[in-house]
Amino acid sequence: MRISVIGCGYLGAVHAACMAKLGHEVVGIDVDEQKIANLSEATAPFYEPGLEDLLRDVQETGRLKFTTDISAAAGSSVHFICVGTPQKKGENGADLRFVDASAEALAPYLAPGDLVVGKSTVPVGTAARLAEFVKDVQPDAHLVWNPEFLREGHAVSDTLQPDRFVYGVEGGSEDDPAVSVLDEVYAVPLSNGTPRLITDHPTAELVKTAANSFLATKISFINAMAEVCEAAGADISSLADAIGLDDRIGRKFLNAGIGFGGGCLPKDIRAFMARAGELGADQALTFLREVDAINMRRRNRVVELTRDLCDGSLLGKRITVLGAAFKPESDDVRDSPALNIAAQLQLQGAVVTVNDPKALVNAAKRFPELHYESNLEIALNGADILLLLTEWQQYRDLDPYVTGASVTCRRILDGRNTLDPSKWRSAGWLYRGLGRP
Ligand code: UGA
Repeated sequence: MRISVIGCGYLGAVHAACMAKLGHEVVGIDVDEQKIANLSEATAPFYEPGLEDLLRDVQETGRLKFTTDISAAAGSSVHFICVGTPQKKGENGADLRFVDASAEALAPYLAPGDLVVGKSTVPVGTAARLAEFVKDVQPDAHLVWNPEFLREGHAVSDTLQPDRFVYGVEGGSEDDPAVSVLDEVYAVPLSNGTPRLITDHPTAELVKTAANSFLATKISFINAMAEVCEAAGADISSLADAIGLDDRIGRKFLNAGIGFGGGCLPKDIRAFMARAGELGADQALTFLREVDAINMRRRNRVVELTRDLCDGSLLGKRITVLGAAFKPESDDVRDSPALNIAAQLQLQGAVVTVNDPKALVNAAKRFPELHYESNLEIALNGADILLLLTEWQQYRDLDPYVTGASVTCRRILDGRNTLDPSKWRSAGWLYRGLGRP
């Protein structure tokens, strides 16, 4: 099939490459010339494991091209909208300017029978509005909402082997013409058994926001339990293991620590609350305010704990922060709890050095006042305390004896509860986890 993908950020670049991998002829379109130049040379504009190899493989087949020229969408029968929906400045709602601009730019190139497929995370009601717009410009084209559930760091496999497909079509009917077209697009994963659900437009939009809200709630739940564990002298990791063995609960997303960040969960729960308010259903989501508050409290808690571990004062203390990305296997620092904590510590008078295997360039753009050191050994040298804030494998693999020889003081705060406390303590470290005795 001939497919256009509008927006080549995280979602679009991965989606375009994966659609070409599935055998389709794909054009990726974006207004950012630098991004398009990079992608055309099989260079990903962000770090995502496996993406550059995939881009190279599919570009060699000639099935994937990138351009800034929207007219290249003409001739494709399926057009995916993959642009960002960031939080509005100074407000909680989602900024739909890029979604609207891409629909408008695409309009002149829509042909009868074409399918416009929304993948971006949008407030409920957006699909119905865009469906009207599409009908006005091309009465024989259709709009379907097909939310994306990929995780950064696993984006390629999540796109090629997703847990499920959701097709939101007008009226939610199986007979909608969009269903057979999307079935053809996703023929390979569907034949491998990926389930697909047909819904109406608002349900499909809500599936995505509900899923992210549930994940955020699960993380804040376990972090709230961590607060109680700390007060009661209990261990959150054992508690999570024990409750996670109940399959109704499940162990995934029950890792207590410094909380969630990134370009999705924080802004999605806020946009969801804002949209529910507009719909008169704000009471239904007031708990998400608490989810957000618990999450933000984690960051302050780490600053306070660090102060305690530094004998009551941060002034002049040499703190090495391990990790800047919002999670491992990503160079994304959007709303990164690690970086937020590093910046707070620096503002309170500590001398902070930040290390990260992939995210330092992005981190330096966001917080230029912090000191960054890409060499881990140098970053460890002379530290008064280590803060492990993003659980990259190389930090999990640190040897407490070798590390102990580099630092000034053997103190570590494990913000992700990933190290073995007994191993570090027996090497002479003052070890602190979050929600652990
Ligand atoms: C999230 C969802 O997991 C995806 O399904 C969704 O498609 C995506 O948002 C999106 O809306 O595009 P992502 O932002 O890549 O994916 O990151 P997650 O893996 O969900 O992690 C989010 C944050 O939660 C990270 O900061 C991570 O460190 C934190 N986390 C995760 C915890 O603190 N504890 C856990 O147990 C799990």
